[in-house]
Amino acid sequence: MVSVILPAAGRGKRMQAGVNKVFLSLLGKPILYHTLRAFAAVPEVRELIVVTGKDEVAALRRSLQHLPGLPAVKVVTGGSERQYSVWNGLEASSADADVVLVHDAARPLVSRKTIEDVIAAAKEYGAAIAAVPEKNTVKIVEDGVVVSTPERAKLWAVQTPQGFQRSLLMAANEKAEKDSFLGTDDASLVEHYGAKVHVVMDSYQNIKITTPEDLVVAEAFLRQKRSLHDTMQDAAAKVHDFLHGKD
Ligand code: CTP
Ligand code: MG
Repeated sequence: MVSVILPAAGRGKRMQAGVNKVFLSLLGKPILYHTLRAFAAVPEVRELIVVTGKDEVAALRRSLQHLPGLPAVKVVTGGSERQYSVWNGLEASSADADVVLVHDAARPLVSRKTIEDVIAAAKEYGAAIAAVPEKNTVKIVEDGVVVSTPERAKLWAVQTPQGFQRSLLMAANEKAEKDSFLGTDDASLVEHYGAKVHVVMDSYQNIKITTPEDLVVAEAFLRQKRSLHDTMQDAAAKVHDFLHGKD
């Protein structure tokens, strides 16, 4: 079975809403609800664990009962860093889970395909992460001065879900704790442990809602009923007229 840990214990400082951003509304429902629904739709997923702030646990347990179409959800207390929140979720996960997925609660647009692809790759390789090729040129900067420009073709922007054999993720977290290693994602702990991490192609749509701009983009995606291909075809249809001076 597959267990899913949804870290949702951040403070949303960059959103500047004064509340935990995962409770903010998108089309009338909390971001966290959209995220839970995405995972609830995948048959292999048998356990959903939300990790949230100490003061939010009781209220969230109550509120989830009033939201339609959700299976049972475990709610546990998070820590001061995302890594500690994930650890608490991992400790609460069922020992029957062969694969554990970790997914930012702040990514409500994750697709069923991505979830299923990461589960399949985690089963096959032990560790797998969703990622997209970097679109921007990225520079290493120190004190306001460019130090170097890594080759873009080798850069991938890492998203979630990240999937692992449960025993591997536990061992990697234990080693990180012993070595005082703090990573910015779960895979970096597995890399530090010395295991290979497989990359799964994700979609650019699976954004992490971080700043207010991201709310606009996420709502637009949720409203979008047409395929991205149709949207692109419409945008392309008038190019010939434009270039030949027609209205
Ligand atoms: N998270 C968590 N525990 C923490 C920090 C973050 O569970 N101590 C969760 C967040 O709730 C979010 C995900 O990890 O779903 C990704 O983190 P991020 O986007 O950085 O969210 P916040 O930490 O809330 O935002 P900010 O960094 O702007 O304060
Ligand atoms: Mg944060």
